Amino acid sequence: MFLIGRNDPCWCGSGKKYKQCHLAFDEKLKQFKREGYIVPKKKIIKTPAQIEAIKESAKINIAVLDYVAEHIKEGVSTEDINTWVHEETIRQGATPATLGYQGYPKSVCTSVNDEVCHGIPDENIILKDGDIINVDCSTIYNGYFSDSSRMFCIGNVSDEKKKLVEDVKKSIELGLEQVKPWTTIGNIGQAINDFATEQGYSVVREIGGHGVGLEFHEDPWVGYVTKRDTGMLMVPGMMFTIEPMINMGRPEIYQDADNGWTIYTEDGSPSAQWEVQVLVTEDGYEIISY
Ligand code: MF3
Ligand code: CO
Repeated sequence: MFLIGRNDPCWCGSGKKYKQCHLAFDEKLKQFKREGYIVPKKKIIKTPAQIEAIKESAKINIAVLDYVAEHIKEGVSTEDINTWVHEETIRQGATPATLGYQGYPKSVCTSVNDEVCHGIPDENIILKDGDIINVDCSTIYNGYFSDSSRMFCIGNVSDEKKKLVEDVKKSIELGLEQVKPWTTIGNIGQAINDFATEQGYSVVREIGGHGVGLEFHEDPWVGYVTKRDTGMLMVPGMMFTIEPMINMGRPEIYQDADNGWTIYTEDGSPSAQWEVQVLVTEDGYEIISY
């Protein structure tokens, strides 16, 4: 094992001496660990150069979602959305992260109405008036990952469903307010769950967000029914997604037995999700992809 010396170049690649760069940070992390906090491993703390590279990936991710936003409408199939995402991603020199991921067959997830997440694009699924759909897009560019998703309302959506879609977005804003270094990640889930429950919804418990950037899915796991002051300590340089799935009805879900991917609400009630990729900074957070 090699221990970094005070006068060695810092591990973050800044070019500064360790003692003038991350030494104080590492000492602080050790202190929190001694106090019993779950602290992140170094490999999930991004260096400034990695953050810049991930932002390049995210630019493409955002542009692809913008393309979807401009074209999505009643009558298109979810397979059409897959084609748009695939072609736009490739055109920009990037790769869709889901394609071939653990055998996933498509370049995007498209989850309609009671589909909670991981809906597989299909030429027979045609968007119709009143549908709500989540389009979940993830991009690899120069080996760096970005991941975010948006909801779209097709035509005349009922007030109830529209409110669900808007409230999930609001819950993410409340979650983002909790992203502060040297506090715990459980605060995010508490804020989201409190709000969703107040509105009469339920939050999916089994599926969460994830660290992202150097890999598609890294630590930490980000739940949305978590409690304040629990879970991993957030520190500057950590990057993860906030992507709550909120159901109009009960929280129970099941997985499609035939395709092995798609998750549905057990009671058939509508479900909505937005996903934001966020960086923990010195004084709060920065949105990387949305
Ligand atoms: N973007 C999804 C996520 O939030 C991707 C799930 S993996 C897939 O992690 F294979 F289902 F796409
Ligand atoms: Co994700």
